[in-house]
Amino acid sequence: MNALKLDKLFYQLKKTDDISGLNIQIETKIPEAMPDFGKLPIFEEIDKQYVRRLEACLKSAYQSAGMFGFVSWKWVNPFVDWIDDKRCLEIMAGRGWLTYALKQKGVNVVGTDNYSWFGSDLWNVPLTDILALDAVDAVRTYGKDIDLLICSWPWLDQTMYQVAKLLSEINPSARIVYIGEGWGGLTADDHFHQHFKEIKDDVFEMRVKSKYEQWDMHQDHMMLGRFI
Ligand SMILES: C[S@@+](CC[C@H](N)C(=O)[O-])C[C@H]1O[C@@H](n2cnc3c(N)ncnc32)[C@H](O)[C@@H]1O
Repeated sequence: MNALKLDKLFYQLKKTDDISGLNIQIETKIPEAMPDFGKLPIFEEIDKQYVRRLEACLKSAYQSAGMFGFVSWKWVNPFVDWIDDKRCLEIMAGRGWLTYALKQKGVNVVGTDNYSWFGSDLWNVPLTDILALDAVDAVRTYGKDIDLLICSWPWLDQTMYQVAKLLSEINPSARIVYIGEGWGGLTADDHFHQHFKEIKDDVFEMRVKSKYEQWDMHQDHMMLGRFI
């Protein structure tokens, strides 16, 4: 099946269409919010199974386009306001969707990734400057000069634990915004979750964290914290 643009899919899809093998083309543009197929006018009586299958196709299209944590203006805009003039480092940035969005709004951010997941067509092309650096090396290089470390969907080996520990040693006042799942989830390891303690920040919680959206069946969320 030819690649279909998302807006076409949204407005031309008929409930009877066969969606097996659906190939959705993702534009390199930050979406306003996560598309909600359940709100489509064609679903007068919502067929939940069909909507779920559509969402699964869309999730895999975004992941193939390099976006795991869903980046949308819905939460990035208030995040930018909250960040203000903080100096940020993003590690394991992948193709750089989040760094790309933050840079568009003037945030002082350096994006890094070790490029280990790069290889397929889409993953060969970062969306913005993403420095080729291992996460621990990135913190060693930039960690003492940042206010905020950002990481979305870190790989579930020990790297996130090592990174957070190192940051606490070289820059104890820096904070971490972690986007991922909790204990036993798909991101970071148990050592990280044992040592990562959330910091209470009402503005962050009400204006930013509450706006973050996740795909069906995923429990990723945003947390502000530090290594203890
Ligand atoms: C699941 S992807 C997340 C990408 C992006 N942050 C997102 O939310 O879409 C994990 C990323 O971590 C990178 N990665 C894995 N191990 C790494 C390491 N030790 N240092 C730096 N990057 C690493 C991979 O290249 C990949 O881009």
